[in-house]
Amino acid sequence: MAAPGRTQKQIAERYKGNLGYYKRKHPWRVARFTVSFLALAGGLAAIIAYQNRIFRRQASEEFFSSGRISSHHAKYEQDCAQCHDKNAAMGSELTLAKFKSVVKDRFHHGIDFKSIDHKCEECHEKNPPFGMKKEYDLHEPNVVENRACSICHQEHLGPGPMSKVADSQCASCHNERAIMEASAKKGTTLPPKVFHLRPDTPQQIVFERPRPDAGYTQVFSSFHRDPARGGHPEFQLIRDKAPDPDTLRFNHARHFASDIPPVKGQKLDCNYCHKPDPQGRFYERINFQAHCQTCHALQFDERNPRLHLPHGDVNLVRTFLRTLPAQYAELARSQKEKQPGYNDVKTFIAQQMNGLRRQFGSDAAFENAVFLEIDPYKREDAVPTKANFSGCAHCHAVKMDGRMPVVTKPYLVDRWMPQANFNHAKHASVSCEECHAQARQSKETSQVLMPDKAKCVACHSPETKKVSSACITCHTYHAPGQLVKMEVRTDAPASSPFKQMLLGANR
Ligand code: HEC
Ligand code: HEC
Ligand code: HEC
Ligand code: HEC
Ligand code: HEC
Ligand code: HEC
Ligand code: HEC
Ligand code: HEC
Ligand code: HEC
Ligand code: HEC
Repeated sequence: MAAPGRTQKQIAERYKGNLGYYKRKHPWRVARFTVSFLALAGGLAAIIAYQNRIFRRQASEEFFSSGRISSHHAKYEQDCAQCHDKNAAMGSELTLAKFKSVVKDRFHHGIDFKSIDHKCEECHEKNPPFGMKKEYDLHEPNVVENRACSICHQEHLGPGPMSKVADSQCASCHNERAIMEASAKKGTTLPPKVFHLRPDTPQQIVFERPRPDAGYTQVFSSFHRDPARGGHPEFQLIRDKAPDPDTLRFNHARHFASDIPPVKGQKLDCNYCHKPDPQGRFYERINFQAHCQTCHALQFDERNPRLHLPHGDVNLVRTFLRTLPAQYAELARSQKEKQPGYNDVKTFIAQQMNGLRRQFGSDAAFENAVFLEIDPYKREDAVPTKANFSGCAHCHAVKMDGRMPVVTKPYLVDRWMPQANFNHAKHASVSCEECHAQARQSKETSQVLMPDKAKCVACHSPETKKVSSACITCHTYHAPGQLVKMEVRTDAPASSPFKQMLLGANR
């Protein structure tokens, strides 16, 4: 710092003779250069010598390794070329020119992720457990710059499994406003179908909400915080207040009333109707035979409660009704200990058909009741606890197409939150109603009984019960097969910190 009182001119005067300073030789600088040169050249010589196996006979490639390989890839531990481009880096044909070009490349671009990525993809394509496709893309079609594989899956950190993908990797996009805005913008230029990441499965009905106009590009840093304060958004089906699209009539509350008869001595509980799948992850679809028929047996003839309509197919029901005499004949035979006489059966059939006519008035009224009666048409003196003698419309939306009744097929959703990987088995100790609190009171099918985010935060938060709230607890990253191939960006702006530059972890 210049002392006060001196003019610019005086200061300049002081350095006048020194302008050529750096051009002149100085013993210290010469020495420094020589040492550096020797160190570099020595290192180079050592590498070449080592490559040529001068010093050690059984040279191991591990010498160059920056750390042990994860156990997933342990079998390639000795075979660096599985991931590294041997010719470019450390092949036996290492030349000075090659070495220079590698060093230069590393200096400008950091680690050559692109060639490593290529190796990762190539091998994982061939290994069926992963089934990565050639056009395998990382995440979402509107991602502006994909991350290289090795940013998230870090190798050389020692044996054992690879370390879990950290939230910071997700936050490097999801918590960056500029990136998310650019992604939202890019999203508007892409056809909507490329966002259909999860293929439709014919066996499963998935409740998929339409993608919002700006995509799923809200900016947030953590799961547990309130959405208004930079936390994970409320789940879309709660946010949208989306109704359950099912047309099956079902009233949860009614089935917990005190007049509902016990089945095999047990009051109805959630598990009577909701059976977990073999993994215990999700619940299986409701089934008429297993969960309704005991009480809703599709009886129609008050004098013959043992006779049931077949379920599940309007045509079968109509055939059944057209062949009623044969059904009664069958019933007569099954009811009699010994083979009933022909006349007995004939009389029985005639009596029952007359009885039906008395019960319903006409054939048309009878068919109407069977298909369209919403309320159970039980006998006056019947015990009101069994919900028998009802029409299909008791549970279904039934329309008439001319004289043909049409039952709208129930739309029983199997998966409600397809973007997350929920697992009931991990919550076996939590009561159903802690998450599905509305179930016992719900009167309409259209009500969605799914938990909101606050229910999860009660445990999944560093502030409450301290169950993990890392993104990968609930989400994965790789979407199954995609349509758009992305460029992986491996370079980085010069202003970024060195470590970040190496890892390419910035934008
Ligand atoms: C399963 C793949 C895999 C195998 C096998 C592998 N590496 Fe790596 N290596 C990587 C990845 C990925 C990186 C990039 C950064 C990181 O994650 O450390 C890397 C980085 C390196 C680096 C430092 C960065 C550079 O490229 O300049 C060296 C040195 C290295 N590996 C040497 C080796 C040697 C020597 C072997 C064989 C003994 C080997 N590696 C085997 C995946 C592998
Ligand atoms: C030469 C073939 C090969 C190459 C190259 C390779 N992998 Fe793998 N990788 C495998 C195999 C095989 C497994 C399964 C090992 C096991 O069952 O544990 C695996 C496992 C993994 C897993 C763990 C999967 C799990 O079950 O959690 C990850 C992540 C992974 N590889 C990422 C990478 C990345 C990133 C690269 C590039 C740096 C890479 N792989 C390169 C063959 C390869
Ligand atoms: C932004 C981070 C990120 C990037 C980039 C990334 N992955 Fe992954 N990868 C994940 C996460 C998260 C999982 C789920 C594993 C978990 O839950 O621990 C995963 C799982 C895997 C698995 C395990 C098998 C599977 O499908 O579940 C393989 C193999 C894998 N990744 C390979 C790759 C390859 C190859 C690349 C580069 C083309 C890559 N990953 C890039 C985050 C990433
Ligand atoms: C390279 C940037 C980038 C990274 C890294 C990233 N995401 Fe995303 N992610 C996006 C973008 C962009 C979208 C919005 C897609 C849209 O608009 O529909 C998105 C959407 C999502 C969605 C909702 C959409 C869906 O269909 O599932 C989830 C969940 C998600 N990301 C989880 C993760 C997790 C978990 C990680 C970390 C392992 C992660 N993301 C890392 C860019 C990224
Ligand atoms: C008598 C059978 C029965 C019992 C008992 C029952 N459910 Fe259901 N549940 C159904 C049927 C049928 C559906 C499909 C129709 C619908 O969505 O209402 C359903 C749907 C559901 C759904 C998903 C549909 C949505 O809209 O979110 C949840 C969650 C659910 N039930 C929770 C419960 C819980 C919790 C209990 C115990 C308190 C319970 N159920 C008891 C029959 C039953
Ligand atoms: C333990 C016996 C029992 C089981 C099992 C049962 N229900 Fe019911 N259900 C009843 C009774 C009793 C009523 C009341 C009938 C009445 O009011 O006349 C009823 C009423 C209904 C109603 C009319 C509700 C209302 O709002 O009035 C529908 C619809 C219904 N059940 C559908 C089903 C479906 C679908 C299943 C199978 C998933 C089922 N029930 C399982 C006993 C049962
Ligand atoms: C107590 C309620 C109830 C009554 C009454 C009822 N159903 Fe159903 N029905 C169901 C349930 C629950 C399902 C969905 C589960 C299944 O397919 O088992 C269903 C499914 C169906 C399906 C779709 C089957 C498929 O393959 O997906 C048809 C068609 C059907 N019912 C027709 C009828 C007809 C016709 C009647 C009158 C004779 C009738 N149902 C009476 C509850 C009922
Ligand atoms: C405790 C479980 C859980 C954790 C932890 C979690 N999420 Fe989610 N996330 C969900 C569920 C559930 C949904 C709703 C899924 C659906 O509707 O299909 C969701 C939805 C999303 C969406 C779509 C948002 C929208 O606008 O609808 C994105 C993006 C997302 N998560 C990213 C993340 C990221 C990034 C993290 C880590 C900071 C994270 N999630 C942590 C459970 C979780
Ligand atoms: C920790 C919260 C939690 C608890 C406890 C819980 N559920 Fe769920 N349940 C969920 C979530 C989240 C979903 C949505 C999963 C999906 O489909 O993506 C769900 C979905 C369902 C569905 C719809 C079908 C399916 O599997 O997606 C049924 C039925 C259901 N739960 C019943 C139950 C019953 C019965 C219990 C008690 C034995 C129970 N749940 C306990 C959170 C919970
Ligand atoms: C009463 C506490 C509690 C509540 C409420 C709760 N969880 Fe969990 N959750 C847990 C515990 C405990 C684990 C097990 C953690 C482990 O295995 O390390 C877990 C594990 C999970 C997992 C990991 C499953 C796996 O495959 O490993 C997911 C996903 C998850 N929860 C999602 C949710 C969602 C979504 C909600 C809200 C609908 C929720 N949880 C509500 C306690 C809770």
